[in-house]
Amino acid sequence: MNKFTGNKNYSISTQTVVSSCPSNIALIKYWGKYERQIPANPSISYTLNNCKTNTSMEFVADEKFSVQTFLSGNEEKKFAEKIEKYFRNIEEFLPWILKGKYVIKTENTFPHSSGIASSASGFGAIAKCLMELDHQFSGAQDGDFKERKASFLARLGSGSACRSLYDGLVVWGRTKEVEDSSDLYAIQYPNDEIHEVFRHFNDWVLLIHEGEKSVSSTVGHGLMNTNPYAERRFQEAHENFAALKMILKNGDMTNFIKLVEHEALTLHAMMMMSDPAFILMKTGTLAVINKIWDFRKDTGLPLFFTLDAGANVHLLFPADKDEDQIKEFIVKELLQFTQNNGVVKDVMRF
Ligand code: DP6
Repeated sequence: MNKFTGNKNYSISTQTVVSSCPSNIALIKYWGKYERQIPANPSISYTLNNCKTNTSMEFVADEKFSVQTFLSGNEEKKFAEKIEKYFRNIEEFLPWILKGKYVIKTENTFPHSSGIASSASGFGAIAKCLMELDHQFSGAQDGDFKERKASFLARLGSGSACRSLYDGLVVWGRTKEVEDSSDLYAIQYPNDEIHEVFRHFNDWVLLIHEGEKSVSSTVGHGLMNTNPYAERRFQEAHENFAALKMILKNGDMTNFIKLVEHEALTLHAMMMMSDPAFILMKTGTLAVINKIWDFRKDTGLPLFFTLDAGANVHLLFPADKDEDQIKEFIVKELLQFTQNNGVVKDVMRF
């Protein structure tokens, strides 16, 4: 009899599951949260294609609960502590989870220092592995349920991770603009509401500054608790959803660019207005932004940017007839602002 569910007549001792999960880049940003990883406002992201975390999870049942983690072959004790805490935190949703020991091996397809959200793809991959194990212990589950629960569990590891479970444009956080949207998990934005021009997109990440971030996302989100502009910001995210919905439907590239860049700058403005204040852009970040604006003015071509909570610049541009001219400009004019010509080339995953 299976000791985890009591409803199966087989026993499972050692299980190894593997999973892969991409990273994502937000267009409307999640910045500010409440207890139990409830977002202060809805967010929407593109899921990336090449930047991924590949994870294998070995679970040995009946052993004392412990977690050992390896990142690219090197043991990482700090990461193991984080995962242990996470597993304890989600026990109520996976009752078997503390009844054994784990060896988790994980690697990213993108450089560690790139500032690409490894917590999103990392927790996404772990949540997928957990749902594979749950599937073994609790019996077959409906595919949609499994995906949704993986998104729910990923959220409890890292908020933005819950958006990595789906392809295309993905929404997390309740908004009246998107049916079935929820604070508890992400859902895919309906594909038939997205104009063709937004379905084939590049994201080239310029690595302006490699190295540790000066503000962790936990600290960063916490700063919104005392930011005097926070409520207005949360409200604006809702307003931006209403605007984005029309933009996506109509293929309105000009307003798409305006909205996405505004969101990125607002995120950084919020950090500058926090107490303590953080300026996460570097000289190179500002130089790149100005160059992009000049390029757009001169050519009218749709090259624009978004930023995460760091100095690196995500260059967004459609994968269409103009992309070669844009790529040429990036290589000639923008690479000079990176450290070691660092650029990660990705596309949106649809
Ligand atoms: C700026 O998801 O990393 O990338 O929930 O504390 O793990 P935690 O935060 P995290 O925050 C990401 C913030 C952001 C914007 C976004 O991805 O929406």
